[in-house]
Parts: sequence; structure tokens; C-alpha cells
Amino acid sequence: MRTFLETERLVLRPFGEDDDSDIERLVRLDSDPDVMRFINGGRPTSRVHVVERVLPQLTRDYPCIGTRGFWAAEEKATGAFLGWFEFRPLADDCADVVELGYRLGRSAWGRGYATEGARALIRKGFTEFGVQKVTADTMYVNSRSRRVMEKAGLVFVRRWYGEWPDSIDGCEHGEVEYALERSRWNDRGEAGRPAD
Ligand SMILES: CC(C)(COP(=O)(O)OP(=O)(O)OC[C@H]1O[C@@H](n2cnc3c(N)ncnc32)[C@H](O)[C@@H]1OP(=O)(O)O)[C@@H](O)C(=O)NCCC(=O)NCCS
Repeated sequence: MRTFLETERLVLRPFGEDDDSDIERLVRLDSDPDVMRFINGGRPTSRVHVVERVLPQLTRDYPCIGTRGFWAAEEKATGAFLGWFEFRPLADDCADVVELGYRLGRSAWGRGYATEGARALIRKGFTEFGVQKVTADTMYVNSRSRRVMEKAGLVFVRRWYGEWPDSIDGCEHGEVEYALERSRWNDRGEAGRPAD
């Protein structure tokens, strides 16, 4: 399933299944401790792990939405690889509830790219994929990620405390869940306002 999505400044594309360049890009992305800080405490991901575990997940098709669950993100103006977005149905064969996620390289942070990509995927989900609800989780202390969720129109649902294999600074503050129902969505990414 090779769907592309363009926004004003981004191109979202499928990852290549056996693409050495994409593998290198992913290894590089996951070797920055700042990028991985709220994922696993900052540990780099090995190339073997990327090939055997990460890439198969990123290239998996979801027929219920007609696309992959993950999108490689490139900067439209330069073609530079920025990272990825997740927009993945929680149930394999049902488009109703989709999880939103994102991981961008540090040089791309603070330029509104995560918000831009998230809004475009949400729009696509609600208008074309038949999605009814978008949900997202992050660590309570991951303020950047929470801010992106809010700017994309998701609203805070709950804070919860899980058991994780990695002990990450700030994990004692728990995780937060955000969500956006289709009926509450409007195209401007404003939280809590019904579509008009
Ligand atoms: C989370 C992430 C995708 C955000 O990407 P981004 O392109 O910088 O996001 P945006 O520029 O669209 O928005 C970031 C927002 O966070 C705000 N922000 C930046 N640093 C912040 C901080 N320390 N505390 C609170 N807010 C912060 C920015 O000001 C901006 O909000 P604003 O437009 O209201 O000013 C990026 O930081 C990332 O990939 N991090 C590593 C992976 C990760 O943690 N992913 C999420 C796991 S759930």
C-alpha cells in the first residue's frame, strides 16, 4: 500500500521494505539520546533491532484504512528525512480507533512539523479512512509531545501509571492519554470545538 500525503511543508511516504537508506535513517534517528529520552531513557537502537523489529512494524499494511500505519516524513523543500508519524488502527481490522504518534530528528523540532503532520493525518483519517476516534499516549513529562497533541485538537483524557521495562527519568509522574472524537473535530485543530 503506497499512499503518499503532502502538506504545506512535508511529504509523508511509506518506508521501503528492504531499503538500506531507510534503515540507516532509522538507526540514525534512534541513536540520538534526546530523541529516545522519553521512549527508552535515551538508549540507541541497534541496526539489527531496526531491521528485525522496527522496519516490519513500520511497513505493515492496514487494509481497513487502505494504507500503512506509519509514514516516513520528509521536508518538501529539501527532501531531507525528518522522522516518522504513526497513524495506526488499534484493532487490526477496524478503522474506528487510531493511535497517533511521531518521532522526529532533533534538527526538525520546534518548527511546527509534528503539528502539521498530525493535523494532516487526522484530517485524512476523519474524512477518508472512516476513523471515529484518534487517541495518543505519552509520558506526563513529555511536554513537547503533549503540546503537539493539544495543537492537533486532542484533549486530555486521563493520567495513568504503568509498569515499563525501562526506567526513564520522570516515569514516576506516569503517562497521559489524549483523544479526539470525530464529532468534536474541526479542521483547524482546535480542541473541544465541534465541527461546523
Ligand atoms: C514530540 C516531537 C515530535 C515534537 O516535534 P516538533 O516538530 O518540535 O513539534 P511542534 O514544533 O509541532 O510543536 C512543539 C510544541 O511544543 C512546544 N515546546 C517545545 N519545547 C517545549 C518544552 N520544553 N515544554 C513545553 N512545550 C515545549 C513548542 O513551543 C511547540 O508549541 P507552540 O507551537 O505552542 O510553541 C519531537 O520533539 C520528537 O520527535 N521528540 C522525540 C520523540 C518523542 O518524544 N515522541 C513522542 C513520544 S509519545
